[in-house]
This record gives sequence, C-alpha cells and structure tokens, in this order.
Amino acid sequence: MSKRVAVGMQKGGVGKTTTSINVAGALAERGHDVLAIDADPQGGMTLKLGHRERYREAEGTLFDVLADVGDLSYGELGELVVDSNEFDLVPASLKNFVLEKHLHTDRRGTESLSLALDESALDEEYDYIIIDTPPNLGPLADGSILAAGTVLFPTRVNVIARDSLEILFDEIDTLEAEFDRNVTTAGAVLNEVPAQGNIAEELEKWFVETFGEEFVFEIPDRDAIEHAIEYRTSVYAYGPDDAGYPWDADPIADLRDQYNQIAVHLEETL
Ligand SMILES: Nc1ncnc2c1ncn2[C@@H]1O[C@H](COP(=O)(O)OP(=O)(O)OP(=O)(O)O)[C@@H](O)[C@H]1O
Ligand SMILES: [Mg+2]
Repeated sequence: MSKRVAVGMQKGGVGKTTTSINVAGALAERGHDVLAIDADPQGGMTLKLGHRERYREAEGTLFDVLADVGDLSYGELGELVVDSNEFDLVPASLKNFVLEKHLHTDRRGTESLSLALDESALDEEYDYIIIDTPPNLGPLADGSILAAGTVLFPTRVNVIARDSLEILFDEIDTLEAEFDRNVTTAGAVLNEVPAQGNIAEELEKWFVETFGEEFVFEIPDRDAIEHAIEYRTSVYAYGPDDAGYPWDADPIADLRDQYNQIAVHLEETL
C-alpha cells in the first residue's frame, strides 16, 4: 500500500503546487517510488513539469476515469501515468474543468478518485502518492482529501491564513462525517517566509498550538524555487550552473534541506 498525501488549501496561490512538486522530489531523492497526481483542472503541476501537450489532449484523461460518462474504468487509472524527470505523474487535463461539473452530480463523484486509487494497481506500485489539489472546496479537492486520508496544508503567513485553515478544518469535519472516514494531518507548510523579519509571534504560536511543533515547516521566500520550476524540476534535480543561475547554489541547498525535513517527517508519521 502506498502512503498518500493530499496537498490542500482552498485559497489560491499559497504554494500547493510548489509544495507538491518539492515534497514529491524530496521523497524521490530519498529513494522512494513516487507518483504525483495533478487533481487541479488548472494543471499547474502538469504544466510546470513540462507536459503542456498532455494537458491539452482530450483523450486518456482523469475525466475518462473519474466521470460516470468517461470511457475508462476506475481500475484503468494507471493508463494515464506519464514518466516525469524525478517521479511519475497522473497529469491534469483541460477537460477536468468539465469533470468537476460531472462529479457534482455523479452518484459517487467525490469518492471517485479514492475508488480509482483502490481499484488500480498504482497503490501497489508506488511508495508515496502526492496529490496536488485545486484552490476550492469542490469535488476534486474534497475527493483528493478523501482519497489521501492525510492532508499537508500549505499556507502563507498573513492575517487570513488562520481563517483559511479553519474553513478547511470545518470542511474536513463534514467530509469525515459524510463518508465515515478519518482524515489525519500531515502538517502545515508556511510558504515564502521572508528572509528579513519574523513571522508575527501570535500567528506562529497559533500554528504551533494547532499542529504541534514537529508538524510546522517553514519554506523561505527564494527566487531559486521559481528557477527550479523554469527548469521543470523540483529543487533536487535542478542544476543552478546549468540553468545559468550559479548564485542559486546556496539557497537551493537550504531549500533541499527544508523539503527533506518534510519528507523525513512523512516517513516517520504516515
Ligand atoms: N518559497 C517560495 N519562494 C518564492 N516563491 C514561491 C515560494 N513558494 C511558492 N512560490 C511562488 O508562488 C507562486 C504560487 O505558488 P503555487 O503555484 O505553488 O501556489 P498554488 O497554491 O498551487 O496556486 P493555485 O491555487 O493557483 O494552484 C508561484 O509563482 C511560486 O513559484
Ligand atoms: Mg496550484
């Protein structure tokens, strides 16, 4: 059985995709077989990893597997997998915007990703499955949380972070009750922490009290993270010299260390 993690937050632009790519990269770097699933119809992860053509293809998509009217069965989820540089990927497709509409009314729409993962052989093939989710509380986001059973919460450190998290905790409570499941917390990733100046003390205290000290991670604000994305990889496969940013060497070593801590934490707690 693979260990599954959904990277979730209904708020846009908080670092879900960046966290998904780099945590998947960290786990792969540590020798695990990793599958990433892009459950966001916007396809951020698919496009950032360089699979633009796959994103625009109309056949062989998550729509076909997950929608009741789709051409593929749940068990055929594995047919969508593409090899990426560091880990494998179930890419998003433009068609998944339509999928989202179908899942609202399909009888087991919200559970469909869960059923597909259970019925395909992927669960046996991979050590870790990391699911990048859309910035909403729709059936693909909820379905990713149900399918994973564990959520890593990326957030920015600003005044609305706490409100966003509390809304998501309520949503998760509702999902647990409705589907009779238990959803656990993998931790919080505080993204783009400024190099100068500390996080507001009160907010940091809230995070530590809510998640526990060992479950709160901080990722500094670094251009190098975006340079790695331009290079179509996580910070692990990115070569600063090769990419023409030799000055990224130090920040990249730091970022590798931070994401590695999250990977170790997942190994220890899942
Ligand atoms: N630690 C960081 N340092 C610098 N830039 C960062 C960092 N983390 C994320 N970013 C940048 O912030 C932007 C938003 O990140 P990302 O796309 O991961 O967010 P998201 O939550 O997936 O967004 P969406 O909700 O649109 O899917 C991106 O341009 C990303 O490169
Ligand atoms: Mg994203």
